[in-house]
Amino acid sequence: MKWTKEQRYKRLDEAGEEEILELSKRVNECPWRQKFHIQPVTGLLNDPNGFSFYEGEYHLFYQWFPFGPIHGLKYWYHTKSKDLVHWENVGIAIEPHDYFDSHGAYSGSAIEYNGKLYLMYTGNTRDEKWHRNPYQCIAIMDSSRRITKMKKPVISNIPTGYTEHFRDPKVWKAGDSFYAIIGAQRSDETGCVLLYSSPNMMDWKFEGEINTDLRQFGYMWECPDYFELNQKGILIFSPQGISQKGDEFQNIYQSGYMIGDKLDVAERNFVHGSFTELDRGFDFYAPQTMLDPKGRRILSGWMGLPEIDYPTDQFGWAHCLTLPREITIKENKLVQTPVSELKKLRGEEITVETIITQDSALIDGFHGETYELIAEFTETDADEFGIELRVGVQEKTIIKYEKTKKKMVLDRTFSGQRFAEKFGTIRKCHLEAEKIKFHIFVDVSSVEIFINDGEEVFTARIFPKKESTGIRFFAKEGQAKLSAVKWAIA
Ligand code: FRU
Repeated sequence: MKWTKEQRYKRLDEAGEEEILELSKRVNECPWRQKFHIQPVTGLLNDPNGFSFYEGEYHLFYQWFPFGPIHGLKYWYHTKSKDLVHWENVGIAIEPHDYFDSHGAYSGSAIEYNGKLYLMYTGNTRDEKWHRNPYQCIAIMDSSRRITKMKKPVISNIPTGYTEHFRDPKVWKAGDSFYAIIGAQRSDETGCVLLYSSPNMMDWKFEGEINTDLRQFGYMWECPDYFELNQKGILIFSPQGISQKGDEFQNIYQSGYMIGDKLDVAERNFVHGSFTELDRGFDFYAPQTMLDPKGRRILSGWMGLPEIDYPTDQFGWAHCLTLPREITIKENKLVQTPVSELKKLRGEEITVETIITQDSALIDGFHGETYELIAEFTETDADEFGIELRVGVQEKTIIKYEKTKKKMVLDRTFSGQRFAEKFGTIRKCHLEAEKIKFHIFVDVSSVEIFINDGEEVFTARIFPKKESTGIRFFAKEGQAKLSAVKWAIA
C-alpha cells in the first residue's frame, strides 16, 4: 500500500472510533504479537524516548505512529513499570499538534527537576516546500502524571555550520548545570554531536561541537547518549552512512559506543577509543540509557531499523523495544546483561547435564515458543557447537560458536518468513573463548542472545510458525559438555 501525505500526517483525533477498532482487530490477528516485550497497540514503534525513573516508577516512552507500519506523524507514547518487567500502557504523552512539532514529536530524553519530569524532544516541522525545520522543545510531567507542553521551543535555531538534521536531545545534569547533546549534520554532510548547557532546562546556550577523532564517520549521527561509568565517559550514537567492514556494520544503519576519558565540557573534547557496535544482530537501533535508583545504567533499544519491511506490516503494526539491559564496563568494553528483575518471568523449569556427541541432540522437555534459556558448553573439542531455536519442519534459528575460526554466528536464513534478505541473513563477530555461555530470551517473534555474560549480544526479529518450537543442541566434529536450564515464559 502506498501512503499519501494526508494519510501519513493524519492526526489521531481525526480518526473515527471504527477505524481504530478495525486497526486493532487486524493487529490482534497477527500470529507474531510478542508476549513480554513492549510493542505498540497498533501502528509503528521506533526509538525509546524519555527512559527515566520518577516517583517510584520507571517511565519508558517511544516514538509512535498509530495508523500503520510506516514512519508518519510521530507521537510520544507512554509506558510505565514498577519493576522493568511488567509495563503498563499509559497512552499518548506528547501530541504533535503545535507549530513547533507539526510534523512529529521526535526523539528525546527525560530528567527529573524541581519535583517534575522534564521531557526534552525535537519538534519536527516541514514548510510548504517540505523543507525541514527542527525545534528543541520541553514538555513537563507532574506528580499526577499530567504532561504539559511548553508554549514555545527552548532552542529554535540551528547553529551556523549545521543542516536541518539536528535532533534527539539527551539531557543530563553535572554540578549546577544541565547539559544536552544533540545529533547533528555538518554543512559538509558529515555527522557529529553538539553540546548545549542550561542552568534551568529552559534557557539553553550553544557550547559547540563535541570534538572526537571521527571527523568523517557517516552523514548523520542520530540519538546520541552520554554517561559516565567507572570514571570513564561513554558516548553512544547511531551513525548513518557507514560502510560494511568485515563482519561489522552489516545493518542498514549502526548503533555503537566509544569509551573514553570523561567529557571535558569546557573544551568539549572527548578523548576516546574506537567505535564498537553495541549489538551484533540484525534488529537494533537508537538505544537510550538511564541511571536507575539502584545506581545501575540501563539500556533499551529499538528492536528494528528504518527503511525495512517487516512481516508484521501486513497486520498493521511494526517493531518492539529490546528487554532492558544493565550496562557495565569490563576491560574497556561495554558488557550488557538482562536486568535481574527479568527472573520474575521464569515459569516451569527444566535442566539437563549431558555430553553432546552426535551432530545434534533433542533433549526431552526442551522446546517452547517463549522462554529463557541458559546453556553452557564446556570441555569441548568440537569444531563448532551451538543451539538451534524455534525448530520446525523447515525452520530453525541457529546460534553457534565456530571454535576454530573464533567466530560467534547467528543465522536466521531459515528462521521463518523471510525479510530484509538484501542485508544478509547471517551475522558474525570475533570472539576468543574456551567455554561459551548462551543466555537467551525467545519471544514469539524475537531472540536476544547474551554471550558469556554479556560480552557480546545478538538481537534479531524472527517470524517462525507457531508450531516451530524445537530446541536442538549440537556439536560438530567432536563433543562438548552441555549444562542447560530453561524456564518457560507464559
Ligand atoms: C531515529 C530517528 C530519530 C528521530 C526519530 C523520528 O530512528 O530517525 O533521529 O528523532 O527517529 O521518529
